[in-house]
Amino acid sequence: MTDIKIKTASSESVVHCGAGAFEKYAKKHKGRVFIVTDKNVYSLYGNLMRETFGSEAVIKVLPAGEKSKNSRNLLSIIGAMAEAGVKRNGLVIAFGGGVVGDIAGLSASLYMRGVRLVQIPTTLLSQVDSSVGGKTAVDFGKIKNLIGTFYQPEEVIADPMFLDTLPKRELNCGLGEIIKYGALDGEIYEKLCKNKDRLYDCGFLGGITADCIRHKADVVRRDEHDLNGIRKTLNLGHTTGHAFELYYGRRPHGEYVLIGMYYELYIAKRKGVCGGEYSDNLISLIKKIVKVPAYADIENSAVLAKHDKKNSDENISLVVPQSEGKSAEIFIGLDEYIRLLNECGRSL
Ligand code: GLY
Repeated sequence: MTDIKIKTASSESVVHCGAGAFEKYAKKHKGRVFIVTDKNVYSLYGNLMRETFGSEAVIKVLPAGEKSKNSRNLLSIIGAMAEAGVKRNGLVIAFGGGVVGDIAGLSASLYMRGVRLVQIPTTLLSQVDSSVGGKTAVDFGKIKNLIGTFYQPEEVIADPMFLDTLPKRELNCGLGEIIKYGALDGEIYEKLCKNKDRLYDCGFLGGITADCIRHKADVVRRDEHDLNGIRKTLNLGHTTGHAFELYYGRRPHGEYVLIGMYYELYIAKRKGVCGGEYSDNLISLIKKIVKVPAYADIENSAVLAKHDKKNSDENISLVVPQSEGKSAEIFIGLDEYIRLLNECGRSL
């Protein structure tokens, strides 16, 4: 088990990762809790929640899926917290994947101007990325994560015991984020290349998860509020991925990150930012996990990248891989962006 501390100007958070992390937390835990989870996670772990946190725990169960990350559910969680009598020193536990973590974190940050928060991520994606670093949000209108806060959990419990029940497609989503870290961090890249035939192996996943959390912790320590360009690197692949996700829907978010990375890698190659064996290796890792589609309606989907909070009206900003352990930000006009995405689609 590894403990990774994230000390920022205003908070201190500890990520406990590895086998046994949940059992250890369960033993030391005291007091009444308000748990946010979803239907799928509740059906698997509802009994464990009751055994661990006692019958006085209040459990709010959301429908499963990305669509639950909305303002209506946010207010209904806050209403349920008030009804349950959660006090200023109350504890909210986000028990689930990325959607649960984001909406429960936002609820905890808003309720009575902030109550204590613990994240217990149950998917690979939320363990390697979204439960760490304090970003919370719900989507609004066509814009992903429009309503949100930075709010650090006091602890994150990332235990691989929860990964055993995940379908392959769910693991793929986490692998999308892991490959993103590979494109940002030379050591993670080397490990991915050496273990490209063991990507689904539990032992491998446990080790690489801790490496990704370490990378993210370092980024969050240096740029908690996404202000000086360091944290922005974690959006690699996300601009195009989010645009396709908004337009096409249906696939899980993590697959869109991989697809976005593939298309953005193509743009980086065409712009001369990245190339050679390095980009070939990243492409082959992506292709091991997802079949990248050749989208027919690039024009109408790509235009949604303009709604991304990070982009101005004229230019799309993309964080792309450059060389081992190094990324670059490129700014590209919408017409050129659409043209290159179309070219990439035709090359598939
Ligand atoms: N997932 C990107 C970030 O936490 O900044």
